[in-house]
Amino acid sequence: MVKRILNKILATIVPLSVHYNNERLRFLKYSIMKKAQSDKNYILTNLAILTHDIEKGMSLKNPRKGFGKKKIEQIMLLLDLYYRKYKDNNFIIENANKILLTYYENKELYKFDEELCKKCLEFTKSNESDLGTITKSTINTKFTNFSDFAKSRHSVRYFLDKSIDIECISKIVDIAKSAPSACNRQSVRVIAIIDDSKINKILELHGGAKGFENCKVLFLITSIISKYTYQGETSTPYIDGGIFEMNLLYAMHSEGVGSCPLIWNDNDGRDKALREIISINENEIVTGLIVGGYYTDYIKYAVSKRLPTSEILTIIK
Ligand SMILES: Cc1cc2nc3c(=O)[nH]c(=O)nc-3n(C[C@H](O)[C@H](O)[C@H](O)COP(=O)(O)O)c2cc1C
Repeated sequence: MVKRILNKILATIVPLSVHYNNERLRFLKYSIMKKAQSDKNYILTNLAILTHDIEKGMSLKNPRKGFGKKKIEQIMLLLDLYYRKYKDNNFIIENANKILLTYYENKELYKFDEELCKKCLEFTKSNESDLGTITKSTINTKFTNFSDFAKSRHSVRYFLDKSIDIECISKIVDIAKSAPSACNRQSVRVIAIIDDSKINKILELHGGAKGFENCKVLFLITSIISKYTYQGETSTPYIDGGIFEMNLLYAMHSEGVGSCPLIWNDNDGRDKALREIISINENEIVTGLIVGGYYTDYIKYAVSKRLPTSEILTIIK
């Protein structure tokens, strides 16, 4: 009996712990979680997030007057720290400089603090402000080639005040399920919430969707863990979930439904709180959230510039 239990532990808990520990150790070593404020990656990662936060603020329909003051101050502080320690210029440093100029140029529109805007202008090394937001009349979703279609999808944070019918939601999920999955196990399940009060409760719990308007559908993407086998597959539910989520975003776009993916993790017991709002099977983990709604006639979205392809692609000959 004892031998059987020991064998079971050796065959399950031990490899699982080793696997998790290796993952955690790598995360601890390379993420910026425990890095000093002067660490290069610490500065760059924070700058990228702060730059996006300002852009995102501008992409809301009704941004808070004068928003982003603390974040802009932080950007200047981090840039200063960076210049003193590191000499190179790069995509993130350029964008942080661009957002300072963009902030200055939009001072009247968003009622930004005059003094701070002056400081931004003095501080920025950029004379280009191709960040911020783009306003377009309704996005054309009928493209003949995938490249144009993919590049026309943007995260949108306010939608038309019109319910999405269940037929449309079914069609979107029907398209999205063409996503590949590990061994075609199709572990992903989708919970589409169209009840306004439940959507609002979840968004409040989430916290990262402040200022969003008229979210008419909230998709919860889950993965059934019982479809996975051993410790080598602990990330696979998230990979399957992520691939499905991207397909779902494109499916929404193709049906004229705008979207914004939202990060999800079980920080601060949020998973338990979510399960109190919505019934989710215990053997399913939530891998992502998407809010959506029909596109409005005029759409404003954050530019969210992409890295040059040469920076993300390595070809091995
Ligand atoms: C996993 C994930 C989590 C995200 N979480 C949030 C979020 O909490 N709030 C938000 O406003 N946008 C969120 N976004 C949207 C990103 O900001 C957006 O995708 C990114 O800036 C690229 O812009 P694009 O989607 O317009 O191409 C998230 C995107 C992903 C992929």
